[in-house]
Amino acid sequence: MASKIKKIGVITSGGDAPGMNAAIRAVVRTCAYLKVECVGIYRGYEGMIDGDFKAMDARSVNNIINKGGTILKSARCAEFRTKEGRQKAYDNLKAAGIDAFVVIGGDGSFNGALIFNKEFDIPIIGIPGTIDNDIFGTSSTVGFDTALNTVVEVIDKIRDTASSHNRLFFVEVMGRDVGHIALNAGVGAGAEEILIPEENLGLERLLESLKRSKASGKSSSIVVVAEGDKTGRNVFELKEYVEEHLPIYDVRVSVLGHLQRGGPPSCFDRVLASRMGVRAVEALLEGKTNLMVGIQDNNIILTPISKAIKGHTKIDKELIRVSEIMTT
Ligand code: F6P
Repeated sequence: MASKIKKIGVITSGGDAPGMNAAIRAVVRTCAYLKVECVGIYRGYEGMIDGDFKAMDARSVNNIINKGGTILKSARCAEFRTKEGRQKAYDNLKAAGIDAFVVIGGDGSFNGALIFNKEFDIPIIGIPGTIDNDIFGTSSTVGFDTALNTVVEVIDKIRDTASSHNRLFFVEVMGRDVGHIALNAGVGAGAEEILIPEENLGLERLLESLKRSKASGKSSSIVVVAEGDKTGRNVFELKEYVEEHLPIYDVRVSVLGHLQRGGPPSCFDRVLASRMGVRAVEALLEGKTNLMVGIQDNNIILTPISKAIKGHTKIDKELIRVSEIMTT
């Protein structure tokens, strides 16, 4: 049976992530392939409220698969949290003839899409795009792998200077309130200790580990700290704490910040985004809604968005064990 959906919108919302452009490209080209019109919605939900739309065809997304950021721009939009804001957005979609949309973003963006669907019954499919990897229903979000590669590359550089000066570095990484970036990049970069919100082992343990490390002959150390960690001290306070209790250490701090969100996407993220974009459009044309495209065991799957935003992915206990053994 032919689908009732003739025009699909695509939007990137919330914090940008490398690979969002590859996902946009996949959505646009799948629409072209399946002969459905496609419209880019600019600046996230802000652009939906302002009617900032542009028709897109297969050629509109030339040469973007390798680009970081999002050509559609992104925003965190307070007005979309109000009924009036959402009404304006709906009126604009209707006026433009947009029957359904694909939202590429994180849990805040998905939450907004669900409320919108409930109020106006417009079909939506989500593609998880965030460096944090904090979405249930996918083993990897678009942007996570690239962010890990970026963090590891930067820590390798920090290690050069740390070892030249026999220093200890606290490196703060992003991840909002989860520790997936810290744990994975920490293991990949050979960190001495990894502080994540999911496992608050206390500052005593950190001191013990640093003492052991000095005693065993290590000259420099890297401690990766997730921005959401629960030690109750930020990286600068951790520096002071260690200097006070272990004056033998010369400590420096590096907060990596937004560089973790930039740069060309990794091959993994490009392929993932392409697969997810194709499935998102197909799902809409099959009459599905309120689902998120994810990857599990290398299979592309669909999960209700309501589950994706509620059940956060669990931290990998096996990786925690590996990281502990590696610090011997
Ligand atoms: O969700 C992605 C993320 O980069 C988080 O890791 C970080 O906590 C947050 O966004 C930063 O948000 P903003 O760019 O609005 O400062």
